[in-house]
Amino acid sequence: MTNKIIEPIATEPVFVENYDLQSANTLAIPATAAYFCEVESRQQLVNALAFAEQKKIESLIVGEGSNLVFANDYQGLVIQNKLLGIHVLEQSVDEILIRVGAGENWHALVEYCVDHGWYGIENLALIPGLAGAAPIQNIGAYGAELKDVLVQLTYIDKASLETTQMSNANCEFAYRQSVFKQRLKNKGVIADLTLRLFPNAKPSLSYPALRDQLPNDASPKQVFDAVCKLRQAKLPAPSQIPNAGSFFKNPIVSSTQLGKLKEQFPGLVSFAFEGDHKIAAAWLIDHRGWKSKSIKGVGVHQDQALVLVNPRRAKGSDVLGFARQIQDDVQNSFGIWLEIEPIVIG
Ligand code: FAD
Ligand code: EPU
Repeated sequence: MTNKIIEPIATEPVFVENYDLQSANTLAIPATAAYFCEVESRQQLVNALAFAEQKKIESLIVGEGSNLVFANDYQGLVIQNKLLGIHVLEQSVDEILIRVGAGENWHALVEYCVDHGWYGIENLALIPGLAGAAPIQNIGAYGAELKDVLVQLTYIDKASLETTQMSNANCEFAYRQSVFKQRLKNKGVIADLTLRLFPNAKPSLSYPALRDQLPNDASPKQVFDAVCKLRQAKLPAPSQIPNAGSFFKNPIVSSTQLGKLKEQFPGLVSFAFEGDHKIAAAWLIDHRGWKSKSIKGVGVHQDQALVLVNPRRAKGSDVLGFARQIQDDVQNSFGIWLEIEPIVIG
């Protein structure tokens, strides 16, 4: 029997200068980064942060770039997260705690949990990106959000390099929102997540299309399959047509505001949301006739008005210019300002 030799991971990342970011963002925006590296260990991550510090440049940790808009070339160091590992920390008849490295692919993690028969993240199937980015905007879909299962996460402060455990409450999660998009924006790196999953639970079927087709005791796999089918029918795959998913957030308005809007626009689509109402931004954009329109190569997807597509790989300023025209038009027509969902860099 021969012993398997495991190569140690070098502590120093490989830094590449003038890196082409086009394949590092799903909108396929042509931009460059002054420096780029991958990190496979916490030590490499710390060394990458030290490199940026020493060069007096900014750093940006990225996953799959599925929620990023590069407005310009990036003058700092882009760090590609490859911190892997899935570990079961505790398992009882009632619940399972797992720790997931931030560099794990999110959908592969969902498949792993579904294969084990664990409830918790099956509604979040097929969301592109890595686990480490999931807390940034508290990813959500089909009636579930990351905040429903996240127990805590490991956070490394970029300036002090101090590592802390942040509880769910400290992440200040809300709809497509967290402390990492506000006070801690670009201030630190998420190294891993601890999630709570359930072997026996009721499926989350609040989304009408799921409720209509699944039994009350649907298994995680049944929910997973239904969600995958819905998404594949509605959302364009970035590998086929570059996009970043929903480009705008659904606006939230009070009952009074909604009442006034509905008097003028009886067909307006809205959903009750935490005491207020979420308006379908797709309906607003669709109603204004933007579907399938394009300017300078940037367009509104033909089947989902909330998704901007970039088939001709236009630059970030053209994507944002097009988005601005939609924002202005919706503001003038409905008095509602659409907030951009992806993170704009530069
Ligand atoms: P990136 O785009 O690489 O990064 C996003 C932000 O997170 C950046 O600010 C980055 O600096 C920061 N970041 C990334 N990793 C870390 C880390 N380890 N530590 C600290 N900061 C970090 N989102 C939803 O919520 N629901 C959906 O249904 C959904 N559907 C989508 C469908 C399509 C077709 C596409 C293209 C996108 C969709 N999205 C959706 C958006 C996107 O998938 C999520 O926001 C995802 O979490 C982004 O992951 P990423 O690894 O690509 O992050
Ligand atoms: N609609 C239109 N025109 C369209 C598309 C939709 O009028 O072209 C109307 C329909 O009436 C539909 C309603 O808008 O019922 C809502 O559409 P959908 O259920 O497809 O969801 P969405 O509000 O457009 C949100 C999320 C998605 C998430 C889905 C499913 C936001 C900004 N977007 O989209 O998340 O996958 O719900 O839960 O909250 C993302 O964040 O990138 C993303 C894709």
